[in-house]
Amino acid sequence: MRGIVLAGGNGTRLLPLTLVGSKHLAPVYDKPMVYYPLSVLMLAGINEVLIITRPAEIGLFRRLFGSGSRLGMRIDYAAQEEPRGIADAFRVGADHIRGEDCALVLGDNLFHGAELPAVLRRTTQGLRGCVLFGQQVADPQRFGVAEVDARGGLLSVEEKPEHPRSSLAIPGLYFFDGAVTDIAQGLRPSARGELEITDVLRAYLTEGRADLVRLGSDVTWLDAGTHESLLDAGLFVRDVQRHQGTRLGCVEEVALHMGFISADVCYELGAAMGDSSYGRYVMASARAYLQSRAPATFPEE
Ligand code: TTP
Repeated sequence: MRGIVLAGGNGTRLLPLTLVGSKHLAPVYDKPMVYYPLSVLMLAGINEVLIITRPAEIGLFRRLFGSGSRLGMRIDYAAQEEPRGIADAFRVGADHIRGEDCALVLGDNLFHGAELPAVLRRTTQGLRGCVLFGQQVADPQRFGVAEVDARGGLLSVEEKPEHPRSSLAIPGLYFFDGAVTDIAQGLRPSARGELEITDVLRAYLTEGRADLVRLGSDVTWLDAGTHESLLDAGLFVRDVQRHQGTRLGCVEEVALHMGFISADVCYELGAAMGDSSYGRYVMASARAYLQSRAPATFPEE
């Protein structure tokens, strides 16, 4: 399965932060925002990822992740010339997807929760058509909204409806089979001039090939697209990390646990940032991983 991180867009709600840079490189507490969505794709077992950015920023993302080989991945980059909408990811990324299953994550979305790896594993294993997620929110009119029947079957999807049919918002993480590129080719811009992801989801729904997976309260989903939500996301990350002694969106640690890199490589990646608490955490997680794998030793009799 291939992955796409969509990290272009206008970022108008974050002006002037986004005047000369991408919001996806802005810090969410201790690391660039893009680490969080990238780590979600990695948790789904995906090690071939395309990062789509604005043309001016492609070099910065390349400097951040290079070819991806440090993380045992392949990371490619493509420019979206204009912010034509989320579904444009499948046009810009058509050569990357090449008819395979793929996952799309929005570059300003964060997901966290103990259940998340299992949800992702189940989703990628049984993929048929497309899978979208739904989570209860207080203000659904800000999001894509899903309507489901009493048994959880998907009935409709709407983009930012004035009068939402439910309070189930659709987070920015989607899984599709290889048909998605053809569907995206056939899309027309919506009334607001964008190629809408909800139109892609609706195409699958019409064919009876769209499943909605509800994310419970044990999975936290945040987007960091406004000044307020960017700060909230940073505070959330700081609080969870402080209480649990873990790091969210730590791509080196995820690469290790997904088997993309060895503990030695992980340790070296941490050591290269050893002056920071982040680097020391990466080194410690490599050591802990090795210890957890060491064969049990018994005291001599
Ligand atoms: P949005 O938050 O809808 O748009 P935006 O990031 O341009 O911000 P604003 O509304 O403040 O102008 O985008 C959601 C995510 O998708 C975000 O990470 C940017 C990305 N995106 C693209 O990469 N290309 C696009 O054409 C669009 C619409 C969004």
